[in-house]
Amino acid sequence: MNELYNEAKNVLKNSYSQYSNFKVAAALKLKNGKVITGVNVENASFGLTNCAERNALFTAYGLGYRKDDILEIMITTEQDSHISPCGACRQVMSELMPQDAKVHLGNNKGDIKTILNKELLPFAFTEGDL
Ligand code: THU
Repeated sequence: MNELYNEAKNVLKNSYSQYSNFKVAAALKLKNGKVITGVNVENASFGLTNCAERNALFTAYGLGYRKDDILEIMITTEQDSHISPCGACRQVMSELMPQDAKVHLGNNKGDIKTILNKELLPFAFTEGDL
């Protein structure tokens, strides 16, 4: 898990977040051992911002990986407090990662809180609701 934290921390500098000055990085661990990272990428049209964890997941899917290939995700910032994933990311993680996948939330000291994907979004909207 420390390895995953370091992978995320190493890409925090790539965060494109000149509007919020709030850097976020994510590192997604696959069952095959690969790690896929993502950072938040903002835009002058603020609503077009993409969060770090969604960018990591979308990259994984773009490479052909799917839900069952994913083990866990680490999300961290430079802040003292632990990041809490936004609602949009909870919806995306709920569909694109296994319900029992671990979601690790880091802070600038390397303290980590771990929660299960399914605990972040109870009563989620799913493809079964369509
Ligand atoms: N952000 C993330 O990347 N992940 C989250 O779970 C929460 C928010 C980003 C979006 C925006 O670039 C900045 O943090 C401030 O909201």
